[in-house]
Amino acid sequence: YVIGIDLGTSAVKALLIDKEGVVRGEASRAYPLFHEHSGWSEQKPDDWVEATIEALKELSGTAGINAADIEGMSFSGQMHGLVLLDGEGKPVRNAILWNDTRTTAQCREIERTLGDKLLGITRNPALEGFTLPKILWVRQYEPQAFEQAKLFLLPKDYVRYCLTGELHMDYSDAAGTLLLDVAGKEWSGDVLAAFGLPASFCPALVDSHGLVGTLLPAVAERAGLQASVKVFAGGADNACGAIGAGILSEGLTLSSIGTSGVILNYENDKDADFAGKVHFFNHGKENAFYAMGVTLAAGYSLSWFKNTFAAGESFNQMLEGVGDVKPGAGGLLFTPYLVGERTPHADPSIRASFIGVDGSHTRIDFARAVMEGITFSLNESVDLFRKAGKKIETVISIGGGAQNPVWLQMQADIFNATVVALENEQGPGLGAAMLAAYGCGWFPSLDACADQFVKRGASYEPNAEAVETYAGLFRIYQQVYEQTRGLNE
Ligand code: XUL
Repeated sequence: YVIGIDLGTSAVKALLIDKEGVVRGEASRAYPLFHEHSGWSEQKPDDWVEATIEALKELSGTAGINAADIEGMSFSGQMHGLVLLDGEGKPVRNAILWNDTRTTAQCREIERTLGDKLLGITRNPALEGFTLPKILWVRQYEPQAFEQAKLFLLPKDYVRYCLTGELHMDYSDAAGTLLLDVAGKEWSGDVLAAFGLPASFCPALVDSHGLVGTLLPAVAERAGLQASVKVFAGGADNACGAIGAGILSEGLTLSSIGTSGVILNYENDKDADFAGKVHFFNHGKENAFYAMGVTLAAGYSLSWFKNTFAAGESFNQMLEGVGDVKPGAGGLLFTPYLVGERTPHADPSIRASFIGVDGSHTRIDFARAVMEGITFSLNESVDLFRKAGKKIETVISIGGGAQNPVWLQMQADIFNATVVALENEQGPGLGAAMLAAYGCGWFPSLDACADQFVKRGASYEPNAEAVETYAGLFRIYQQVYEQTRGLNE
């Protein structure tokens, strides 16, 4: 067996997977988020470690399983979160997470200091969520804590360090720090020097399937595992989500609709240029990359709608009959900017809208319009990729958008691409387990592992009439942003 550990923002989830790729056990433990001030989002790194060991303990006790047969484990991690370690390897303060937005001033400082080098080297714009702005914030506002800090890690790297005693970071997660030369696969001496950070501040880089060590005996004992269990580096949650969905070659695209939504496109070319309009990160597959656009309020928009207009109902109840509403929801159009938008606008202050309301519209038309608006927002990323010359033909759908056949068909019609759901979808935890399976030598490549572990389910083809209706609406959708920019200022 191998274990895939998905270190998320609200909980850690561990999966026990056998050699056929079948899930044999599952355990999860939650931990708190701390929002001390508006826009702040922190967690205690040791909460992650305790929760992970507890989850492992439950998993190793799975009925019918001999824990001695567990060979390896790896990780998927929430990206970008800053963990600063002192000389003893202890965190100097809470971790500052990916969804913390306190660092706008530091982002502007990074842009001023690096100019064109920012995109040239890091391949990404300076966003509040990324790690370097958080480092600069701590240096500016908590100089005593910063004084003690000798090295930084990302969330899953800290957990892995506590499990093994080894300090590493993999390329896919390092890519979200703004300190990595993404195409060159090394810490950027230029960026470190520009901000006066020593090279010793960064941990050693490894591939996601790279072996970093084995379990510390005391941890192994607590978790009910052998100390010989091999621990592999793991990757960023988006990279692991892509691996777990089999996005491992050119021509494959992932559409993930969770609280936020992601369109992620596999990329072989390290020099692919999207002009900083989408994120460009190293993949968890060696020497591969992916580009990714983000819709901030994807599933969140539908949850907001449900909580506000269908409180007490389940999603299924609220969406009953949504397939009977014709594509386009009778001209009712929604933009999902409830908490601002990342791709393509990178605008935290834009707000959502409903336009085109007709006296005959009822709640189900509004519900359909919300699903369409979320999908239009994701289509902005699809559109960006196509304009950059990428072919978007097969989209694997995961998350909430894959739960509902109406939404799967809607994605096919709006993206004008074949949309495929997965059988028994497991998310990033499966990607993490696949890295361990590959690392253990069960397969000659991640692709071979995906052939065995990732099972495709139903497939949806675009319907020509709906494609045309949506193409017209999408042109109007794209204009709403400019027309509504001033509303929240
Ligand atoms: C990616 C991002 C989120 C986090 C969530 O840039 O900020 O998807 O990875 O954990």
